Amino acid sequence: MKILVSGGAGYIGSHTCAELLLSGHEIVVVDNLSNSNESSLERVKEITGKDLIFIKEDITDEMKMEKIFLEHHFDAVIHFAGHKAVGESVSVPLNYYHNNISGSLTLFKLMKKYEIKKLVFSSSATVYGSHNKVPLKEDMPLSASNPYGRTKLFIEEMLRDIYSADPEWSIAILRYFNPVGAHPSGLLGENPKGIPNNLFPYVTQVAAGKRTCLSIFGSDYDTKDGTGIRDYIHVADLAGGHLKALEAVACSNGIEAFNLGTGQGYSVLEIVRMFEKVSGKKIPFQLSERRKGDAAVSYADCSKARILLQWNAEKSLEDMCRDSWNWQMNQTETYLDKELQII
Ligand code: NAD
Ligand code: UD1
Repeated sequence: MKILVSGGAGYIGSHTCAELLLSGHEIVVVDNLSNSNESSLERVKEITGKDLIFIKEDITDEMKMEKIFLEHHFDAVIHFAGHKAVGESVSVPLNYYHNNISGSLTLFKLMKKYEIKKLVFSSSATVYGSHNKVPLKEDMPLSASNPYGRTKLFIEEMLRDIYSADPEWSIAILRYFNPVGAHPSGLLGENPKGIPNNLFPYVTQVAAGKRTCLSIFGSDYDTKDGTGIRDYIHVADLAGGHLKALEAVACSNGIEAFNLGTGQGYSVLEIVRMFEKVSGKKIPFQLSERRKGDAAVSYADCSKARILLQWNAEKSLEDMCRDSWNWQMNQTETYLDKELQII
């Protein structure tokens, strides 16, 4: 199939592009590089030995996007493009509503106009809010507690309305749990700008000596060791999930949401211990206050994806930590964040 991949130069997009090429798909990546670097796509070509088309464009620009739709006849769209930092979304909500919602709206309008009705969309476990019981299931009530989460929720609602109006659409909404890890080659990975908000990039930078100490946000949760529990999933498994979702939307109509996680929760302290094991480095940490908005425990029920997509996460926590560490060790100057300071 010929696939438009929005946001394909980013962390999850680049891993998925590699899988798509290896499976014989043709891809056109549209990315404005607001949170990525074109070199990730060079590395996708290096890994796969295959070519792709890259167009540096902003998906909110309807005229430029229409040109792309006119030039290429797409069979399906995988839509990753969006801003994703929760804290930033609280400070600049309008940027998030504009980029994520207007961007998606532009894309969906063009898909409708050019009769491309097969879509795989990146949603997030954040749409479950913090009031549901674990394990989280796709049919539980949805809510959001910050502008980022609300953009995901609104886009999901928009997609349900699009499908109600035209049941020829075929849409897979993928709710990622905590994507981590890197390509086993060490060539692709996550490179957050500035101080990382998320646990994995922070821990790798502490292990690499780029940051002095990890703050563990909350040690008094009602969990096995008092620290927060999450369902971490290797980005390579996640990329495989997109292939399965694409196969599903290609051969049926409908709209379905799928949890992509492992179904297994690990605590912050378990992550620290596993990182110490794979890196052979001591990870200094301090116990701090809970982070506002954090749930104590979050993990998925993945049975729907297992049954309907025949997809299962296969990589272990050790794989996730080892590949993250390998990526950290392999980063070249191109990827190095110039703003990174030892703090
Ligand atoms: P990322 O920032 O690495 O990738 C997103 C890509 O989209 C970047 O390359 C960025 O430059 C591009 N982009 C952003 N706005 C754009 C626009 N208007 N036009 C064109 N390109 C644009 O993020 P990621 O971790 O790969 O996440 C991909 C998707 O998955 C996002 O929608 C994110 O919200 C969602 N998601 C991510 C996580 C996570 O933890 N990484 C969890 C749940 C959901
Ligand atoms: C966060 C976002 C979520 C988003 C996800 C993307 C918040 C509140 N939630 O999820 O919306 O979809 O990232 O991956 O921002 N932790 C520490 N120290 C740190 C960083 C994190 O102890 O320096 C802890 C957290 O309290 C949590 C766990 O590590 O218990 C995982 O945190 P993180 O990687 O930020 O992911 P989430 O909070 O699950």
